[in-house]
Amino acid sequence: MADADFELREMTRSEIGRICEIDVTEEGTCVYKWVNGQIQRVPEKWQRRPRPVEDWRGKAERIKLALDEGGLAIGAFDGQRLVGFVFLRHRLTEKVALLQALWVSRAWRRRGIATALLRRVLDAARGEGARLAYVSACPSESACGFYLHEGFRPTVWVHRELYDREPEDIHMILALQPSGEQTGLWPQELAEGSLG
Ligand SMILES: CC(C)(COP(=O)(O)OP(=O)(O)OC[C@H]1O[C@@H](n2cnc3c(N)ncnc32)[C@H](O)[C@@H]1OP(=O)(O)O)[C@@H](O)C(=O)NCCC(=O)NCCS
Repeated sequence: MADADFELREMTRSEIGRICEIDVTEEGTCVYKWVNGQIQRVPEKWQRRPRPVEDWRGKAERIKLALDEGGLAIGAFDGQRLVGFVFLRHRLTEKVALLQALWVSRAWRRRGIATALLRRVLDAARGEGARLAYVSACPSESACGFYLHEGFRPTVWVHRELYDREPEDIHMILALQPSGEQTGLWPQELAEGSLG
């Protein structure tokens, strides 16, 4: 699918409730885990069923709160239909932006939509002076495969609160500035280390 087949646009606070239109269902036969200080694909059957409405409501409320504190929500539209969504919180810490949500509807995957959404919010994060992007990635092959493809790397420099909330996730970071390695926020040994 060419870029012309979907349109990206910023979503307002009052539109955030539309995220429940996205079909997040998925299943797989392997997941990523930390093994001996590295992430590895490990065989494991899993399935993500349609998300209950109450879960969507909770997510939408958290995104709205974060939007109020400084963030960017972008939707991918096929005509009037919302088929992808990304939300970036500008300040996880002073120089670190958090990729808080990224979903593409099942039937629209592998067409470059997540790539386009991600690049749009990372440009904005750079503009806001962020030096790193952080994501607590679902351990699925699709999520980790996607973030690795986009240059994110697993880190043991975990944000404690996010890690405690999602210990099974693969926490990843991406340097956003050309001089990212020199910022003191991107020690190489942390990107290659172990959570223990
Ligand atoms: C992860 C997700 C957002 C990717 O969206 P997408 O629009 O399909 O991604 P793109 O088409 O931009 O993919 C870009 C690259 O990422 C990698 N990738 C994407 N899906 C992948 C998969 N299922 N397995 C392995 N690599 C994958 C590939 O390298 C792909 O390039 P290619 O298609 O040329 O091989 C989507 O699968 C999704 O919404 N999954 C369910 C929700 C989710 O897990 N969100 C992330 C939560 S942290």
